[in-house]
Amino acid sequence: MNHAWRPLILIVGLAAVLLTVRMFLVPSDFMAKNGDYKYQWHRVGNEKFWRDEFTVKHKGREFCKQCHEDKIELVADSGHARVQCENCHVMFNPEKKGHPVDLKADFGYLLDIGIDRSRELCKRCHSKLPYRPKEFTSLTKGIKPFNMIDPQEHNPGEECVDCHDVHRTGFK
Ligand code: HEC
Ligand code: HEC
Ligand code: HEC
Ligand code: HEC
Repeated sequence: MNHAWRPLILIVGLAAVLLTVRMFLVPSDFMAKNGDYKYQWHRVGNEKFWRDEFTVKHKGREFCKQCHEDKIELVADSGHARVQCENCHVMFNPEKKGHPVDLKADFGYLLDIGIDRSRELCKRCHSKLPYRPKEFTSLTKGIKPFNMIDPQEHNPGEECVDCHDVHRTGFK
């Protein structure tokens, strides 16, 4: 036999062993669901496990819409169209919690709704940071500049909501 074949046989043999071992070790329901081979590899049986284990906490604007239809329309027409109500109104600070309707008792809602009027809320998304993209893709207007402010320069010492109408992203 030509000596050049020997390493080839070794490699093919190793590959066969690896594939056999893999067949026994990897669960049969481990797959790239929906044919997305980049991000979808998981054990399909796991989905049920996580669904039973975790209750969804954020309900999205559809939930708020039952009672706040006017606000939904206002925000849908503003620069904050893509930002969920819960992104700004779920509160961890006990002083800022408080919703007139008891959403926990009446709807089994798990989060605390309230209002944060501090600069901190807006800075979370609007602060100029070196690694933040300078543009974003708007649903209707294509690529737009993502206008960032430098909180140290942009009207320091005043609350953003003293000037800005947050739901319209206009001015008061
Ligand atoms: C069952 C009806 C109902 C649902 C559902 C509901 N709200 Fe309300 N909410 C009210 C009522 C009534 C008020 C008092 C009147 C007003 O401000 O519109 C209120 C007031 C508020 C206030 C003002 C609180 C304050 O301190 O003045 C915020 C903020 C708020 N809701 C946010 C939300 C968000 C966000 C959701 C969705 C996660 C939501 N609400 C879901 C009925 C509801
Ligand atoms: C980008 C952050 C942000 C988003 C998104 C947002 N809010 Fe607000 N909301 C605020 C702030 C800040 C205030 C206090 C405004 C002020 O005092 O000028 C407020 C005030 C309110 C109030 C009470 C005062 C008022 O204007 O009537 C209600 C009710 C409310 N929001 C509901 C909602 C609902 C419902 C949504 C989703 C459609 C929503 N908000 C989306 C930040 C936000
Ligand atoms: C969860 C992230 C988030 C929070 C919190 C947030 N914003 Fe925004 N805001 C956005 C996004 C995304 C846009 C759309 C991008 C844009 O227009 O630059 C936007 C747009 C805006 C615009 C319009 C900018 C323009 O160029 O037309 C203003 C004004 C604004 N926000 C003010 C505020 C104020 C004031 C607060 C705090 C009360 C706040 N935002 C909180 C994400 C956020
Ligand atoms: C004293 C009133 C005032 C306060 C307080 C204020 N702003 Fe502004 N903001 C303005 C004015 C006026 C403009 C438009 C002119 C400009 O770009 O400076 C503006 C513009 C913006 C824009 C759009 C930038 C652009 O290039 O179009 C964003 C986003 C913004 N402000 C966010 C904030 C945030 C976040 C805070 C709080 C940290 C804040 N503002 C505090 C008055 C204010």
